Amino acid sequence: MKQLTTLIFATVMVPWIMSFTVKDEYMEAKKPKIDTVNYDHDGFPQDSGTDQAVARKPNELPTCLLCVCLSGSVYCEEVSPEMTAVPALPKETAYLYARFNKIRKISNRDFADMATLRRIDLTGNSISEIEDGAFLKLPNLEELNLSQNRLTKLPALPTKLHFFDASFNRLKTQGVKATAFKKLTKLAYLYLGNNELTAVPQLPESLHVVYLNNNKISTITDETFCKGNNSYYIRSQLDEVRLNENPINLSENPNSFICLLSLPIGWYK
Ligand SMILES: *[C@@H]1O[C@H](CO)[C@@H](O)[C@H](O)[C@H]1NC(C)=O
Ligand SMILES: *[C@@H]1O[C@H](CO)[C@@H](O)[C@H](O)[C@H]1NC(C)=O
Ligand SMILES: *[C@@H]1O[C@H](CO)[C@@H](O)[C@H](O)[C@H]1NC(C)=O
Repeated sequence: MKQLTTLIFATVMVPWIMSFTVKDEYMEAKKPKIDTVNYDHDGFPQDSGTDQAVARKPNELPTCLLCVCLSGSVYCEEVSPEMTAVPALPKETAYLYARFNKIRKISNRDFADMATLRRIDLTGNSISEIEDGAFLKLPNLEELNLSQNRLTKLPALPTKLHFFDASFNRLKTQGVKATAFKKLTKLAYLYLGNNELTAVPQLPESLHVVYLNNNKISTITDETFCKGNNSYYIRSQLDEVRLNENPINLSENPNSFICLLSLPIGWYK
């Protein structure tokens, strides 16, 4: 019982109390306690903290004062004052929610040495640039949400990715390597709707869902979804393809879908 009380205090009360004392702590430049919370392997904060828990950048408020750090998750949504870069993350962070801020750029340093990260959500920022290696040192990253940003191109993606959402950006076909997704053998959900793509990138066999709606795609071939030379091939995993709002007449390409169990959602005229 005492343990449970301690845990509740550490996970709920401390961030709550800190939210009231942020200003004072900052003004007095005191060393805040929450800064030193460590997470164990189940993602729960441990009592004994060390000072390296948060590598603080100079002149910045510690992440867990700006954001809520709870059980291996860091929540930084609509942070005020404006957050323009990825904050330093506590060790062992598994989930980062940094939606609706003003982050402009993701650099190779931002997620270096964060092998514990499993989900990153950067929806609704102002990201126009991502350094090519930024997500490559994340062997356990399964979900990445970059929707509603200003990207024209994509960086290299880590191989364990299961969900990837880059819808509502400005992606151009020159900025998305044709093979960008091909080697992601776990990728099941791919959302690329509302961009400026003119071609469909190569799609891995593992895909269940692919959204390509509201782009500028004007051609597809027998190889886009199927294997043109093999009429026995069936792509049974892929059960939702969205191609609506593209300058393409899907009834002109009936052979392009013969391997699918259901027709793409789109325009048949
Ligand atoms: C990404 O974020 C948007 C906006 O919150 C949400 O609608 C979408 O489902 C998210 N994508 C994934 C793959 O979770
Ligand atoms: C179809 O084409 C691919 C690549 O061009 C080739 O690797 C494969 O062996 C061909 N399959 C058949 C059944 O001809
Ligand atoms: C779409 O393609 C079909 C089959 O070729 C054709 O009959 C139809 O007129 C086309 N519609 C438009 C709007 O281009």
